[in-house]
Amino acid sequence: MVKDLSGSRWNQAKRFGLKLRWQWRSLERRFNAWIESKPRLQAATLSTWKFLASPLFRRGAFATVAVTLVVAVSGYAYSLRVPGNSHRGSDQPLEIPPLDEGTVIEGTRQFRLVVDESQKQLLPGMATNTAGISGPYLGPTLRMKRGDDVSILVENNLAEMTTMHWHGMHVPAKMDGTPHQEIQPGETWTATFPVEQQAATLWYHPHPHGNTGDQVYQGLAGMIWIDDQNSQALQMPQTYGVDDFPLVIQDRNFNRSNQFRLPGGIGLGTTILVNGTINPSLEVESRQTRFRLLNGSNGRTYHIGFDDEREFLQVGTDGGLLETPLRTQRIILAPGERAELIVDFSDGKEVMLKSFPEAGLLETAEMILWGQGSGNFDLVRLQPTKTPSRILPHVTVETPLCTIDRYQEADAKVTRHIRFGGRERGDRDPISNGGGRPFEDARQRGGGGRGGFAINGQSMDMHRIDERVRLGDTEIWELTNGTGQAHPFHIHLVQFQILDRDGRPPSGADRGWKDTILVHPGDRIRTIMKFDRYSDARTPYMYHCHIMAHEDNGMMGQFLVVEEPDQLALLAGEPTVLIFVYGLDCEHCFEQVTLFDEHLGAAGINLVVITPESEPNAEREKSVACPIVSDPENRWAGWFKMLHDGPAHGTLLIDADENVVWGDTQDTPYMDVDAVIERYRELVSAEAG
Ligand code: C2O
Ligand code: CU
Ligand code: CU
Repeated sequence: MVKDLSGSRWNQAKRFGLKLRWQWRSLERRFNAWIESKPRLQAATLSTWKFLASPLFRRGAFATVAVTLVVAVSGYAYSLRVPGNSHRGSDQPLEIPPLDEGTVIEGTRQFRLVVDESQKQLLPGMATNTAGISGPYLGPTLRMKRGDDVSILVENNLAEMTTMHWHGMHVPAKMDGTPHQEIQPGETWTATFPVEQQAATLWYHPHPHGNTGDQVYQGLAGMIWIDDQNSQALQMPQTYGVDDFPLVIQDRNFNRSNQFRLPGGIGLGTTILVNGTINPSLEVESRQTRFRLLNGSNGRTYHIGFDDEREFLQVGTDGGLLETPLRTQRIILAPGERAELIVDFSDGKEVMLKSFPEAGLLETAEMILWGQGSGNFDLVRLQPTKTPSRILPHVTVETPLCTIDRYQEADAKVTRHIRFGGRERGDRDPISNGGGRPFEDARQRGGGGRGGFAINGQSMDMHRIDERVRLGDTEIWELTNGTGQAHPFHIHLVQFQILDRDGRPPSGADRGWKDTILVHPGDRIRTIMKFDRYSDARTPYMYHCHIMAHEDNGMMGQFLVVEEPDQLALLAGEPTVLIFVYGLDCEHCFEQVTLFDEHLGAAGINLVVITPESEPNAEREKSVACPIVSDPENRWAGWFKMLHDGPAHGTLLIDADENVVWGDTQDTPYMDVDAVIERYRELVSAEAG
């Protein structure tokens, strides 16, 4: 019996119950809303109730339940037996993406990626229209080493905008390839960064706002392999395409003319592509071989193992090697996750790498009800026909791979609560600004997206900063899920560690570096991470669900990493009005400053003015009583989550704990000083009461 990796039976049953309850409630809500919109129906429902109570209906209901049960059970039995690949056919040799180690010019490792439309013969008959990166489908495996300075030029030959994100890499925000680093058709963009992280299997893919799923589906993705001194010294398979293979696993659907058809929902397909190959087979040497798996699918989670149920070693997770290999028969891979495996073929037996149906009846019922199953798919046929070209010592569960220093809970200054779906009572609303739109009053803000594609009740807004992190801090991010589906949480910039799951300390692969983790309904996962590099007060990083249909529909948030500004002591732990100006030398800015200085001064309200000028006009500075902070790096703006992506004057009211309770950003300064005084008084009396 294969050990079930998705938690205890009890846990599964609990999750299942939660999903059912959630589904029931959302149906109920929708039904009630619908009834309320139809007054005539309301009268009719009375007779419906009578009907529901009738013996005729009850018999019908019983029959329905019975039939559903039979269908579910036989569906389960069926799913256990038949591989789901709908395009069965002859095996194809597994394609191996070209290895690209770049060209080192003047100490910089340089890469060039050309993103373009293309075609590929995937099925018999018509070729499939695809997109690829320096090739017809997918892109080369970029290999780099810790300590390298890297530059990657991305050329966009698509007819639409794209971006290129280095998933799992520690890079400055401007180099991250998020929705904020657009590459227009015909344009190029160059990312430069030092490689400062341990050996790992990462990947790259487009990240345009609302369009990631579509572009990845066409074929835009590739792997990044990082080596370091430690990994290179290990007696472990690491020769690309010889004893160390990339496996990019994706599910696709085709229409009748062999074209990709991204289905609705989370985009589950019935044909598996590995490295862009259908029905792949691979000849390997009859010895230990390493595989680097990437779930590059839009929405499907896989339960991966071998058809003969052989054991294998997991040696790496998303962000690096494990301390020692882990012996297992299954790994679970959600969209965006990676795993490194070592498989022993010295018995010379052919074996199929498979994705198994989910671990039991409950999960199969889930798959039928919510369509989130892993299905029963052949992935790659492995044929150990080659004689070993070299003999390496056997990797065992005792082989030391690396050391992972555990982050200490006591070092974490901040705990953030990230809840997929709606908000919990007591959650603070982030405030929206930018694009010339006024801030909304946080306390007046309505419900918003509960249960929809939201995180903490908020849908992605490129002009809103959801979280602000202080550079250098260690933080705990507690992940929960208020929806009826599992969501893989991914965060940019850092690799995190799992502190605990439902209070239990991590074991096995949970002790490895992660940047993506599946959060089931009912889970409470505490992750811990350190933001020790790269601050940028203007450019945010993302965190989101990696089910692409979900991220594209708003299940994403933005965070800034900011150095703590100087002179924060000016806030004096009091509610304060902040005015962000273009400059004291700007006439209407100064007009606002003098007006507010006079009136707020008279009312005894703390006022701080922030200017990006490094040497503000000394005469004007002296003419007002309030402090003028010179902040050329926009740290204050970043600290108070003002995304300074364009000209905007900002007036904010913050409470004693530095939370923004009201704000206005416009092309012109906010001049209604009385309204601000009014809000200030409301705030003070609310804080007192
Ligand atoms: Cu793999 Cu924000 O992405
Ligand atoms: Cu999701
Ligand atoms: Cu101005």
